Amino acid sequence: MSGKSDQKSDRFRVVGGARLSGQVSVAGAKNSALKLMAVSLLAPGKTTITNLPKIADVDFMAELLNRLGCKVDIDHEKNLAIIDVPQTPAARADYDLVRKLRASINVLGPLLTRVGRAEVALPGGDAIGSRGLDFHIQGLTDMGAQIHSEHGYIIATAKKLTGCKIELPFPSVGATENLMTAAVLATGTTVIENAAREPDVVDIGEFLISMGAKISGLGTTTIEIVGVSELKPTTHATLPDRIVAGTWAFAATMTLGDIQIINGRTDHLEMPLEKLVDAGAIITKEKTGFHIKMDRRPSSFDVATLPYPGFPTDLQPMAISLNAIANGTALITENVFEGRFMFVNELLRLGAKVQVDGHHAAVTGIEKLSSAPVVATDIRAGAALVLAGLVSDGVTLIEDGYHIDRGYPDFASELQKLGADVTRG
Ligand code: UD1
Repeated sequence: MSGKSDQKSDRFRVVGGARLSGQVSVAGAKNSALKLMAVSLLAPGKTTITNLPKIADVDFMAELLNRLGCKVDIDHEKNLAIIDVPQTPAARADYDLVRKLRASINVLGPLLTRVGRAEVALPGGDAIGSRGLDFHIQGLTDMGAQIHSEHGYIIATAKKLTGCKIELPFPSVGATENLMTAAVLATGTTVIENAAREPDVVDIGEFLISMGAKISGLGTTTIEIVGVSELKPTTHATLPDRIVAGTWAFAATMTLGDIQIINGRTDHLEMPLEKLVDAGAIITKEKTGFHIKMDRRPSSFDVATLPYPGFPTDLQPMAISLNAIANGTALITENVFEGRFMFVNELLRLGAKVQVDGHHAAVTGIEKLSSAPVVATDIRAGAALVLAGLVSDGVTLIEDGYHIDRGYPDFASELQKLGADVTRG
């Protein structure tokens, strides 16, 4: 995905060696905030979304909604958006925005069910692998939509969707969200089996319920939606970003740090935090978040990524970076996105010992990585390279830092506050 920001230098300059210490606060989740914005299309009138992260993608989503006829006011100081949705939004999500922003796909279900038509550009390739839409399309077709693709767009039409039983072949986050948001205004009951259980999906479900939708089973593998005739605008706070909180926890463990992660929810990070405890970290749940402390070289640990509540694929690159300096050898298995080991080539430039075979990577830890210029290939790979830079000798330059900006607001300055020497440029 592109989304290059012109405002900041595109490079992160990381001087290795610091032990992170202090306090960091986690903002709203990117993967929830952008979808909440898209889903507000379901109710005419003014919906307010608070606790938005300060990332460019929020502005891209606002632009997409503006083009669909909404009036979006973003207050960057207060981290909120007021989205005024018209009676009849336009139906077309253009390629120039969809290619920047995967979450644009989330307008498909809401537009189809409210307007009876959605034209959404196909998002195309991605640095983490192929990301099909076949489950979205099959589910909407089962609900009575006519769907075809034309000149790079999915064209979906339906007079009125009808509830039905849909069994997903894989608990896809995006497909669960699109089908749930289409079903809320369909006739009758929709049951989604093998649904995704991610906290982001639950957040969107709760948002829909506060708009008047009838949904049960959120957070389980079976979600039942009873269609209603209309939804009302609402106000909703985005849940904190579990992947950003997890990234801070990995950073603390790798740098033998001692940090307090405000708004970090241990209940959303059970598997990754268990792994960090195996590595030697001491984690204490606190009222406002959690505290993580590490006082020795981490021990290696195996990881197999799986849908929630399994180990998140979005933290897999951090697990590789950590194991690259751990004591022992780890086996990392990627089960969600086949292209997610691409960044390993960058880590090899830092001297890491990683052998990739299909969807497995064997990582043998060494004491210290050796700094070099590297390139961020996606958001999470970029963050993992910054963490690797923190435990390298010398200065690591990470090019294409705009990827990192898409998921980690003010990453360099937050790291500086924790005592690391990380700058832009
Ligand atoms: C979302 C997150 C992403 C995270 C992922 C898994 C957003 C914007 N992105 O992506 O950060 O890594 O969940 O937690 O929220 N698949 C199909 N056909 C489909 C749908 C999915 O084959 O119709 C496959 C995908 O190619 C992938 C797997 O299912 O291999 C999981 O994809 P999915 O859960 O849908 O991820 P996203 O919603 O794209």
